[in-house]
Amino acid sequence: MSEKKIILTGDRPTGRLHLGHYVGSLKRRVEMQNSGEFDQINILIADDQALTDNVDNPAKIRENIINVVLDYLSVGIDPAKTTICVQSKLPALHALTFYYMNLVTTARLSRNPTVKAEMQLRGFADEGLPVGFFAYPVSQTADITAFNANIVPVGEDQLPMLEQAREIVEKFNRIYGETLVLPKAVIPENATQRRLPGVDGKAKMSKSLGNCIYLSDTAKTVKKQVNGKMFTDPQHLRIEDPGHLEGNVVFTYLDAFCKDDYFAEYLPEYANLDEMKEHYTRGGLGDGKCKKFLIQILEEQLAPIRAERAKWEADIDAVYDILMEGTNRAKEITNETLARVEQSMRIDYFKDREIIKEWKNILK
Ligand code: TRP
Repeated sequence: MSEKKIILTGDRPTGRLHLGHYVGSLKRRVEMQNSGEFDQINILIADDQALTDNVDNPAKIRENIINVVLDYLSVGIDPAKTTICVQSKLPALHALTFYYMNLVTTARLSRNPTVKAEMQLRGFADEGLPVGFFAYPVSQTADITAFNANIVPVGEDQLPMLEQAREIVEKFNRIYGETLVLPKAVIPENATQRRLPGVDGKAKMSKSLGNCIYLSDTAKTVKKQVNGKMFTDPQHLRIEDPGHLEGNVVFTYLDAFCKDDYFAEYLPEYANLDEMKEHYTRGGLGDGKCKKFLIQILEEQLAPIRAERAKWEADIDAVYDILMEGTNRAKEITNETLARVEQSMRIDYFKDREIIKEWKNILK
């Protein structure tokens, strides 16, 4: 099999992307893209997967496809280097999913911790479980294998998906012969990247909690989220009081976004974040000042993203073409894998009339 380094990542188009996505995955995708170390990079907009728990709201998915593509382009995903494509328009993925479903048991799928947790969250445990939702790890295996991806950068919560994919690949290759590439997950290195909390300190940024900062938010909204909602230290009542860093979201965000250069520019009384933290812990540094600094830092990073987004928003026709061209390229790649799979399974009945000989033989 090929030794090429092929990346596949994906997102469900169920909402605009936020700072959590940015530190957890988008930033790294752009770095990987620009490193020149990879032979092929693909990003899949997983609209089929999004439908598995949004069956009654395809409009939401349709709308967020454009939002997510704009988010990609605005952070620096370059369509000349990265293939951006739409899952539902790649029929090979559907066919592969159907074949792979025979390689996994319902018992095995039921044990998948991510599916279990999401089932609870969606209320499927009570309402009944849609088969499509239950089987989405199989469809994700189809995504990964169809692109021959050996490198799959994902969040920690996706590790069970990758384990499932590897099992299916191994089983397929055992039964039908070496055909599919064994994928490997690559997860974020440090805790802040793995999970940026919401501005309110809750573990996850979520639209329904209103605790997100979106990449497309205006400067005014960002300021409002930080000044109005960002959790600090409830015991830090007066500026002179000693402050605590643990669970203090302002400092969690500073850990994620601060660079030493920013001090010279915006807060020259400290050389670096350690000095600032030291003063905060000792007492004498107010939350308002910390928040002001954080807002300036977020703006440093968000302003260029916002400007880039505005450029693309003014040319949606071009974005449409990028998406369609990416999807066409992906169609070729995934169709090629499907052909290989059908050949390994010997179900490629109408290929070169080969089977006529075999049929004639058995009828002799
Ligand atoms: N399940 C992933 C998520 O929710 C999205 C996804 C779909 C994906 N297909 C993929 C990720 C293939 C990596 C590879 O984040």
